[in-house]
Amino acid sequence: MRLAVFISGGGTNLQALIEGERDHLFRSKIVLVLSSNPNAYGIKRGRNAGIPTFISKNEEKILDLCNYYKVEGIVLAGYLQIVTNTLLIPYKNKIINIHPSLLPKYGGLGMYGMKVHEKVFENKERYSGATVHMVTEEVDGGKMILQEAIDISNCKNPKEIQEKVLTVEHNIFPKGIKIWEASNETCID
Ligand code: GRF
Repeated sequence: MRLAVFISGGGTNLQALIEGERDHLFRSKIVLVLSSNPNAYGIKRGRNAGIPTFISKNEEKILDLCNYYKVEGIVLAGYLQIVTNTLLIPYKNKIINIHPSLLPKYGGLGMYGMKVHEKVFENKERYSGATVHMVTEEVDGGKMILQEAIDISNCKNPKEIQEKVLTVEHNIFPKGIKIWEASNETCID
């Protein structure tokens, strides 16, 4: 599939996907990077990889870009905007996201980034992890594609949890795309 990766921050997940494509961990090709944040370091990562990279929060413009680059699937990688019907309808069942918790725990509106790890720490969870899932109109409610847990019992603060969970994210995101590709392939008799 031709993929667009949407970011808003550091872009370490984008970097994991750029390297996953290079290392043939999946067959899809990243043809577009879109950042909602003009200061996102991930913009540099996209441009350094030679991928057309744009900045916008306007979903009509974003849809035009996806059409221009013939995007077949959208990958949310630390994207902090809520995706609306402008994209959800034309890309129904073609958008995936990575969330830094063991969904359905610690998901839903307002649960993103450090807020997730702070809650997990507050509740003295033994395990956390990451989840790759389909995106629907229900925030973090779509079908799960892949989830991996990690023992965080020796983490002394939410930051340490975030660092551990990020390693899981970088590991499962390319695998999640490979699973997603297989489920998207039309079976040819
Ligand atoms: C990651 O923790 C991701 O799970 C969450 O936002 C963070 C983005 O990190 N959605 P990065 O921009 O990929 O480094």
